[in-house]
Parts: sequence; structure tokens; C-alpha cells
Amino acid sequence: MPAALITGATAGIGRAFAEVLAEAGHDLTLVARDADRLRTVAADLTGRHSCAVTVIAADLSGRAGMAVVERHCADHPLSVLVNNAGSGMRESFVHNDRQREQESLDLLVTAPLRLTHAALPHMIERRQGSIINVGSVAAWLASGTYSAAKAWLTVFTESLATDLAGTGVHATVVAPGYTRTEFHARAGMRLGGVPGWMWLDPMTVARTGWADVQAGRVVSIPGLQYRLLATLVRTLPRPIVRSMSAARPGVQRRRAPTPVSPPPVSPPPVSPPPAPN
Ligand SMILES: NC(=O)c1ccc[n+]([C@@H]2O[C@H](COP(=O)([O-])OP(=O)(O)OC[C@H]3O[C@@H](n4cnc5c(N)ncnc54)[C@H](OP(=O)(O)O)[C@@H]3O)[C@@H](O)[C@H]2O)c1
Repeated sequence: MPAALITGATAGIGRAFAEVLAEAGHDLTLVARDADRLRTVAADLTGRHSCAVTVIAADLSGRAGMAVVERHCADHPLSVLVNNAGSGMRESFVHNDRQREQESLDLLVTAPLRLTHAALPHMIERRQGSIINVGSVAAWLASGTYSAAKAWLTVFTESLATDLAGTGVHATVVAPGYTRTEFHARAGMRLGGVPGWMWLDPMTVARTGWADVQAGRVVSIPGLQYRLLATLVRTLPRPIVRSMSAARPGVQRRRAPTPVSPPPVSPPPVSPPPAPN
């Protein structure tokens, strides 16, 4: 059976990708931090599909966890790698802890970079494989470092797809909008103001994403509403996009810290009149 590795496979979009790839006849390796939950999800999937499921408990926001999964990708030929694990942050960069920002960047950027690099040699050698990166429509906004990381992931995937042309290996970024998962509650975001039509269901995201991978699409945007919004946002002048991003619900906006006033500048000493000769 072809093999797929999915990061963040115990909840939300990653869990849905595990379901879709099991249905499509893959053996699975599931990665997340919570080992008990991984075992529960693995038992559920093996009970309902005729697939083998391996689990790896690893924190992908740290170098040690990343190295374990990277080694697995290098040692086990994969047909599909889904870089999905991610989390959001409620605080803006100005108010957030630097370590938290670094961990987020490592989870959203460094982990996909390293796992992709580790998985590709086998895929290229066998002239077959798919790299699926779960991005976000936030990639086209200007909403914090999360948005910047997803923009990196989008451009990385597009560039990878070009590099891989003719190798038999494909890369696709799946860019969802608001999706009903644990993501927002985990980040402490309150999204009461988001209208119902903006919410996607994780199975729809995974099924659309997988169908777009099969069709060889490089950018997959699940949901007609988000395909229209993404087209609009990509044509708007950036100052308008920046204002829209500032109004995005869920992200804590606070006043920037008041700068400490510098001590009053004392007037320069008045030079004494030149002494008469
Ligand atoms: N939900 C949305 O509205 C939305 C919209 C656009 C894009 N996305 C993107 O979709 C992806 C999946 O998000 P989701 O909404 O499905 O979130 P979710 O329901 O919170 O699930 C996150 C998954 O990632 C795992 N995870 C989180 N941090 C991890 C870490 N440091 N190391 C390893 N695994 C980790 C979690 O398991 P453990 O806690 O056990 O580690 C869980 O399996 C993310 O990349 C997110 O940016 C989500």
C-alpha cells in the first residue's frame, strides 16, 4: 500500500486528511504531541479501514521533535506528505512573547521545510509522490506573523511545484478559510462575529484538497466563497488589504505600548560673546 505521513493528524483538518487518505488506500503515519490521542485515532482508523497506522508523538515546534519525524521521512518512502500541524496566536507580534513567536515560526515554516526536504529524495527516485502543505487564505492578508508564515508556505509550495516539474512529484498548498476545528479555541480566539457562510467543515477542506492534488493543482482553495474572496484580495491595492487585515476577528488588538518619553532636551548652552581682542 502507498504510505502517507500527516502532521497534526489527531484533530481538525489533519484528522480529516487521515480519513480521506485511509479511504484512498494509504497506510498512515500520524504525528501530533498527545500520544494517548494519537493511539485513539489510530485505533479508530484501523478499525474502519484496512490500513496500517503508525504513530509518532513529537512536538514539531522544537528541533528534537522535528528531527525524529524528519528521520522517519528520510527512512520510509512516502507517497504523500501532509504538512498540516499548526496553531494560531491571539496576541499581535508587539505584545507576544518572543519564544512563542519563534515556536510558531518553527512549527509553521521550519517543520514543513525540513520534512519536505527529507521526503523528496525517495519520491523523486520513484518518480511519484505528493507534498501537501496546509496553508491559509491568511497568506494573502497582512495579519501577524501567522499570515506571514502562511505566505511563506504558499510561495514555497508554488516554487517547489515549478522545481519538481517533470519529476512525477507534485506539490499543492491547500489554503482554507475559517474551518470548524479546535484551532481557534486552542488559541483563545473568540469568533462570534464570523458569519455562518464563512465557516468550512474539515472534511470538505480535506476532500477538496485531495481532489485538487489528484487534478495536479498547485493552489487549492476550498469553498466557492473563499475562491471569490481570495481572487478579490489578490487584486486589491495592498493598503486596502492591510486595513481589512487589521479588522480581522479573533486577533487581539491592543494599543501599541506607549514609548518611554526621553528626558527633556536642555537647550544648548549659549556661547559667550567672543572676547574682545
Ligand atoms: N481552522 C481554521 O480556521 C484554519 C484556517 C486556515 C488554515 N488552517 C490551518 O490548518 C492546519 C490545521 O489546523 P486545524 O484547524 O485543524 O487545528 P486543530 O484542530 O487545532 O488541530 C491541530 C493539530 O495539530 C497538532 N499540533 C498542534 N501543535 C503541534 C506541534 N507543536 N507539534 C505537533 N503537532 C501539533 C494537534 O495535536 P497536538 O495538540 O496533540 O499536538 C492537532 O492534531 C494548521 O496549519 C492551520 O494553520 C486552519
